[in-house]
Amino acid sequence: MSNRWLFFLLIPVSMVLASGTAMAKPKGDSIAGKQKSEACAGCHGVDGNSAAPSFPKLAGQNTDYIVHALSAYQSGDRKNDVMAGMAAPLSDQDKADLGAYFASQKGLNMPWVK
Ligand code: HEC
Repeated sequence: MSNRWLFFLLIPVSMVLASGTAMAKPKGDSIAGKQKSEACAGCHGVDGNSAAPSFPKLAGQNTDYIVHALSAYQSGDRKNDVMAGMAAPLSDQDKADLGAYFASQKGLNMPWVK
């Protein structure tokens, strides 16, 4: 078998491997995330555009960043008493749903988010 054929064989194989990795983490559902976000609205705003400067805006933030931040509060890598308490009960699915919801909201001054 020539190297060229080996190359074409590797494309589907790597696609299968890549999709397997993606399936390992839960897929966020923004509709479920909207319901779960009621607990967050008081500080971060209903749509993630918080009104007070002491609360970070989450609208339009990347899903992965939100999931990562929530995991960091859970593990203690990121320390904040308020968010440690808020993040503690969240499952991986909760974090993915919340991330998907806030990521789908329109941030302020972000004309590229339709
Ligand atoms: C009582 C107010 C309050 C509530 C309720 C709250 N948060 Fe927060 N949140 C904060 C504060 C304050 C920070 C900034 C903490 C810091 O400095 O790390 C923060 C930070 C965050 C961050 C990191 C943002 C960034 O830009 O790095 C995320 C993500 C987040 N919150 C998600 C949530 C989610 C999801 C919920 C609901 C389950 C929630 N928060 C509920 C006050 C709150």
